[in-house]
Amino acid sequence: MIKHTYHLSGLSDLDQFSLELLPHLSDGSVILLTGELGAGKTTFVSSLAKTLGITDPVSSPTFALIQTYEGGKGPLHHMDLYRLRSETDCASLDLDRYLPPKKGITCIEWPDRLGSLLPENVIQIHLEYSDAPTARDLKLTLPD
Ligand SMILES: Nc1ncnc2c1ncn2[C@@H]1O[C@H](COP(=O)(O)OP(=O)(O)OP(=O)(O)O)[C@@H](O)[C@H]1O
Ligand SMILES: [Mg+2]
Repeated sequence: MIKHTYHLSGLSDLDQFSLELLPHLSDGSVILLTGELGAGKTTFVSSLAKTLGITDPVSSPTFALIQTYEGGKGPLHHMDLYRLRSETDCASLDLDRYLPPKKGITCIEWPDRLGSLLPENVIQIHLEYSDAPTARDLKLTLPD
């Protein structure tokens, strides 16, 4: 397991991070995004989408819980499981076809909701508030 830490002073550093992550991604990659409300999980997905050449704007999947963005080097599947309470809820949603996806990449906000449905060999990104409003500390964990 390889761990890296990054200090992002703003959104352009986040875009640079997405660019550096790209060579580590391929069909079937799953990225778990953790960090408190407003830490920047959705903003990272939006940055990654841009890096993949996806032109549709990324927002929080609200009603659907999962949103797929096509185009560029997509598809990019984006799950936000905040409103799910448990694994039981997840099981009824047929989410496992994105865990991992056959084609494209899956990003998951609030992955703790998945419980035992969590896949192995995932990429983990943890975001934390830092010393300025636009600054974040990011921890990246890559599987072996
Ligand atoms: N360096 C940065 N990286 C990411 N987001 C940043 C950064 N600097 C400022 N922000 C801002 O912080 C906010 C992060 O909101 P975002 O919706 O991405 O958080 P979230 O972690 O997805 O929250 P939630 O748990 O509610 O879904 C955005 O308004 C974004 O512009
Ligand atoms: Mg979010």
